[in-house]
Amino acid sequence: MRKDQTTHIRPHVDSEAYAPARPSITDQFGRTFNYLRIAVNEKCNLRCIYCMPEEGVQFNPKNEILTTEEILRVVKVVSDLGVNKIRFTGGEPLLRGDITKLVGKSTTTPGIESVHLTTNGVLLDRYAGDLKESGLAGVNISIDTLNIEKYIQITRRDELVRAMEGLEAAKTAGIPSIKVNAVALRGFNDSEIVEFVELTKDYPLTVRFIELMPFDAHQIWKTGKFFSAEHIQKELKDHFPNIKITTGTATEHFIFQVPNYAGKVAVIPSYSRNLCGNCNRIRLTADGNIRNCLYAHNEFNLKELMRSGGTEEELKELMLSAMWKKPIDGWAAQKTGSDSRESMTQIGG
Ligand code: GTP
Ligand code: 5AD
Ligand code: SF4
Repeated sequence: MRKDQTTHIRPHVDSEAYAPARPSITDQFGRTFNYLRIAVNEKCNLRCIYCMPEEGVQFNPKNEILTTEEILRVVKVVSDLGVNKIRFTGGEPLLRGDITKLVGKSTTTPGIESVHLTTNGVLLDRYAGDLKESGLAGVNISIDTLNIEKYIQITRRDELVRAMEGLEAAKTAGIPSIKVNAVALRGFNDSEIVEFVELTKDYPLTVRFIELMPFDAHQIWKTGKFFSAEHIQKELKDHFPNIKITTGTATEHFIFQVPNYAGKVAVIPSYSRNLCGNCNRIRLTADGNIRNCLYAHNEFNLKELMRSGGTEEELKELMLSAMWKKPIDGWAAQKTGSDSRESMTQIGG
C-alpha cells in the first residue's frame, strides 16, 4: 500500500488477550450475551402491516429517544462487559442523521468486533458507501416481496424499486455481509420462494425467511397468514431437492445452500422459538430500556439511570442484573411483566 493511501481496515483486536479483563454478561441458565441490538429510532418510512398501523402510531417525543452520546456510552459500557457485536435497528435506522457516526464510533470502540445494521433499504442507496467507509460489517435488508403491487400492499408504500437499489448499492459498496429478510406469509409471498432463492445464485448474500410474530396492534397474525418454519423448509426442499445444510448465525436455525449457488438461504423460527437455548442477544429499545428477551414484557430503564447521573459501574450493574433475570425462553418471557409496546419499531425486531 502506498503511504498516502488510507485504509479503513480496523486495527486488529485480539479477543483472546482481551477476554480475561472483561467480565461477561450471563444468565442463570448459563447463556452468555455478546450481541447488543440497539433500536436507534422508532420512526419508519414504511408502514408494514404486521408492524404498525397506517395512522395514529404514538411515537415517543424526540427527547425520549437516546441521543448519539447516550448510545455510544452504552456501546462502551457493554464492550467492557464482553459484548463484541452491535446491531443498529429501528424503526428505520437510516432516518437518523447520525447513523454513520454511530457506526464509525462503535466500530472503533475497543472490544467491538463487528457492527451491523438492519434496514428496509429504502435510503441505503444514499448511505451504503459511507457506511462501508465507517466500517459496517453487515447489512440486513427487509424485503418481503419482489412484486411491486404486493410490496405496496405489505408496506403501504411504493418503495420496492428504491429498496432494490439499496440492495444493489450495498453490493457495489462491498459491505462484507448482506442479508435479505423476508417475513414469510402464507398465500402472499410463499409463491416467491424460488425467486428469492435465485438472489443467492450469483452473489454471496443470505436470503432469510422469517416466521411472522404477533407484534402489532392489529394482530395481522391472526388472519391465517402464519407460515411455520417447518413448512417453509418443506417448500424449500420441494423446490430445491439438492439443497444442502450449512452453517450460519445464532438466529438462523435452518441454513441451506443450493449446490453451486454463491449465497445461502436460512429460515428464522422467530415464532416457534426453538432458538432460545442459544440466545446471545441483548436488546435496547429506542427509548433506552433494556429488554432481556424479544418476547419479554418487563424492561430495565437504562436511560433514566444515565440521565440521573448513573456511573459506569451502575450502568454495568443494571445491565448484568437485567440479563441475569432473562427467562429460560420466549414462551416464559411472554408471561412476564406488563409493558404496552404495540409495535416492533420500538423494540427493534
Ligand atoms: P444476524 O446477526 O445476521 O443473525 O441477524 P439477526 O437475525 O440477529 O438480525 P435481524 O435484525 O436481521 O433480525 C431478523 C429477525 O430475526 C427478527 O425480525 C426476528 O424475527 C428474528 N430474531 C432476531 N433475534 C431474535 C430473538 O432473540 N428471538 C426471536 N424469537 N427472534 C429473533
Ligand atoms: N413478525 C416477523 N418479523 C417482523 N419484523 C418486524 N415485525 C415483524 C413481525 N411482526 C421484521 C422485519 C425485519 C426485522 C428486523 O423484523 O421485517 O426484517
Ligand atoms: Fe418499518 Fe421495519 Fe416496521 Fe416495516 S417492519 S414498518 S420497515 S420498522
